[in-house]
This record gives sequence, C-alpha cells and structure tokens, in this order.
Amino acid sequence: MTTLLLLPGDGIGPEVTAQAARIAKALTPDITLDERDFGGISFDRHGAPITDEAVAAAIAADAVLMGAVGGPKWAGVARQSRPEAGLLRLRKEMQVFANLRPALCFDALADASSLKRELVAGLDIMIVRELTGGVYFGEPRGIETLPDGQRRGFDTQVYTTSEIERVSRVAFELARGRRNKVHSAEKSNVMESGLLWREVVTDLHKREYADVQLEHILADNAAMQLVRAPTQFDVLLTDNLFGDILSDAAAQLTGSLGMLPSAALGEAGRPGLYEPIHGSAPDIAGQGVANPLAAILSFEMALRWSLNRPAEADRLYRAVETALANGARTRDLGGQLSTVEMGDAVLAAL
Ligand code: IPM
Ligand code: MG
Repeated sequence: MTTLLLLPGDGIGPEVTAQAARIAKALTPDITLDERDFGGISFDRHGAPITDEAVAAAIAADAVLMGAVGGPKWAGVARQSRPEAGLLRLRKEMQVFANLRPALCFDALADASSLKRELVAGLDIMIVRELTGGVYFGEPRGIETLPDGQRRGFDTQVYTTSEIERVSRVAFELARGRRNKVHSAEKSNVMESGLLWREVVTDLHKREYADVQLEHILADNAAMQLVRAPTQFDVLLTDNLFGDILSDAAAQLTGSLGMLPSAALGEAGRPGLYEPIHGSAPDIAGQGVANPLAAILSFEMALRWSLNRPAEADRLYRAVETALANGARTRDLGGQLSTVEMGDAVLAAL
C-alpha cells in the first residue's frame, strides 16, 4: 500500500491541497490519502504546531504533501510553538536535507515575470538548498542580556563535512541529468563555514564528479546574477539560509510564486516532503482564489521522486502545460479562475 500524507496547514494551504488531492484521486486512485493537522491549526487544536503522532505518520508515509503554515493569528505565540517551528521540526525529523526548488518559466507565462521576456524565456534552474543544518539549527542561539543592560542576539552558522557532501552529491547527480552544470554559492570570502563549504564541494567534485562543470560563486553575486542573466544557471547549490533567500528571488523570475513546487529529500528509501514554495497568503485565504498549481506540481514531484510513478508525473506535467496554454489563469496570473476552476482545468487536460 502506498500512502501520501496530506498536511494542508493554514491559510490557503487547505484550498490548494484539496485540488492536489482531487488530482491524486483521479490520476492515482490506488494511492491512499491520509491527513493530519499541521501549523497554526494544530496549535489551536492540540497545543503544538505538529504533534508527535503527526511526525510519526509523516515518517511512516511514502511521501508527505503539505500546503502552507502560519499567519498573523499565531504571530504572538512563543517561538517554539509557532507554525514555522513545526515545519522546521518536520524537516529535521524526516531528515530531508536536500531541498529541490525548481524555478521554471512556463512559456505561456514569460510575460508575467517582472523581468523582460527575453531574460526569462526558457529559464530552468534547479536550486538545491541544504535544509536541515546551518544557521536554522545551529547552537548556541538565543537572546541574552549583557551586564550593561543591552541585549545581544546570536545564532550559529555551522556545517560539517558530511552535511555538505550529502547535499552536494544530490546537486551533482541532478546536474548530470540536466545541463551538467553546478554553481555552488557561499560566502567563503567572509565566513569559515563558507570556506569549508567551498573546500568540501571542490574535493567531492574532484573525487567523484569531475565530468560535471562546477563554478563557485559568492552568494551576493549569485543574487545579482539571478536578476541579471538567470538562464546562465542550471543547478544552484547552496546552504539553508542563502537557499531560502535565493529561492525566493528565483521564484519571482518565473512570474508567480503561485506556480512553484518543491521537494525535500533525504536518503534513498525515506519519504520526501513536498510543498509549494508560496506561503499561507492570509490576505487571500478563504476566498477560493489561490493558484493551486504549485500544490499540484508538488504532487507531480512526489510522483517522480518518492512514489516511483514517472509516467503519471509526465502526464500531470503535460496537463498543467496544456491548461496554461489553453489560457487557464488564476488571479495571480492575471486571470479570473477560482482555485477549484484551475483544478477543473488541469483535470480536464488530464
Ligand atoms: C521557506 C520558508 C521557511 C524557511 C519558513 C516558513 C520557516 O521561508 O520554506 O522558504 O525559512 O525555510
Ligand atoms: Mg523562504
């Protein structure tokens, strides 16, 4: 039995996840769908942004598809109980260290980008973001009061050789199936962990991936190059924090955050965590106007990377392309379709 655990979450999360679930029922009726509360709704109902039971269900599933978490309602909650803390715990416990964030410009949407069409046409970048280490999890961290009464906030950026190697391996492997090029972004000019990052990537490349083209790039320059000439990138490998930032920039190049899926993967055989890149969008939650394509494409990635259904993944991908080519547009893409109507359009194309 194959199980897909749904974690719809907060805000528009449940609306977009419902459309992905509809597609799953139609395309792969044999896959069992299970569901748990996650994020703010879990905090409200169970007192924690994710329960131990939900974590166990995620680890036991074949893949996990989440919607989005968070919202102004929980802004005042203590940090360890916030929806975001639930997401970080889930990533850590599922050990999904490699976050694949494709930034792909669908031809039908090239004019929706804030960059000129000629800069983004054909854009196909795969960001590989380290997801379970770095400053997001490093200790010590905290806010302390100094003898003079000032407060001092601190975080720790830390990476070990094996953490860098395992995510780099994912980037090199992916590049081989694409345009064979990896840019590795860090700040080795100012950070010790950045220097180690560069050394480990260089060594691994020499030992095992010399056939792949490797370029080291400082993270600030990577940000600049992403908006200057984004099509020069194939695979962009980076740490947790830089990956968070660079993936938002890359996402906007494609015209809409509402289009982009992501996959977080661990060691082979372990379940992956799939999520749209967009957040819970409290401003439009409950209105039925959110674009469900990022959630639908996240399911497509789950079919490909965790559920071993490449043929169904291809079919679904083509259905999304067809729906867009036929003019299906939610509001974020300049159209009028509701969330459900966009789901209808993809189902019709399927
Ligand atoms: C993301 C988000 C998360 C992150 C937040 C919600 C914790 O921005 O997935 O990019 O910073 O990783
Ligand atoms: Mg982010």
